[in-house]
Amino acid sequence: MAYQIVALVGSLRKESFSLKIANALARLAPPSLKLDVTTLHGISFFNQDLEANPPADWVAFREKLQKSHGVLFVTPEYNRGIPGVLKNAIDVGSRPYGKSSFLEKPTGIISNSPGPLGGVNAAKSLQNILPGISGTIMGQPETYLNNVGDAFNEKGELVKEALQKVLEQYLTAFAAFVQKQNA
Ligand SMILES: Cc1cc2nc3c(=O)[nH]c(=O)nc-3n(C[C@H](O)[C@H](O)[C@H](O)COP(=O)(O)O)c2cc1C
Repeated sequence: MAYQIVALVGSLRKESFSLKIANALARLAPPSLKLDVTTLHGISFFNQDLEANPPADWVAFREKLQKSHGVLFVTPEYNRGIPGVLKNAIDVGSRPYGKSSFLEKPTGIISNSPGPLGGVNAAKSLQNILPGISGTIMGQPETYLNNVGDAFNEKGELVKEALQKVLEQYLTAFAAFVQKQNA
């Protein structure tokens, strides 16, 4: 049986490196993991006024998380934090209070940037936000992918061997982590 992992992409951009990385991860994943690459286009703004009668897109997003065996965040850094669209999705998934859909889901974080710091602040920001509402976050290997601007060709295929190796190492560790957490 393959563990179902929701891979949340923190960028809405069509040519997003985060999306391309998530797609590469889905392709490289071992047979024990099935990554469902999930963009956040359809998730409406969180508004506490709507909690009693939540919009269908919130319900669908929460159900998807609940049915999964784990969550993997693949995100860029915006202004030393996470993009607003990702924070909004986390807020939606975290409610109702005490019933977060992220709870008990083994969690992975991969940040990236075309710049030199690999989006490390976005990853650290997630480590601040998640612990009260998520499952255990995998600690090692810490994965902040820098200089991703030359990693893909015009078809969106991964062409940087060193990056592929890092992704494969991450997936090996994450597969073992997810298995252990779901045991
Ligand atoms: C609003 C905004 C803020 C950004 N802030 C940062 C930043 O703090 N650190 C960083 O490394 N890159 C920053 N960038 C550059 C992004 O890393 C770059 O645009 C990246 O391609 C976005 O991710 P994506 O390719 O998945 O869409 C920022 C980009 C935007 C649009």
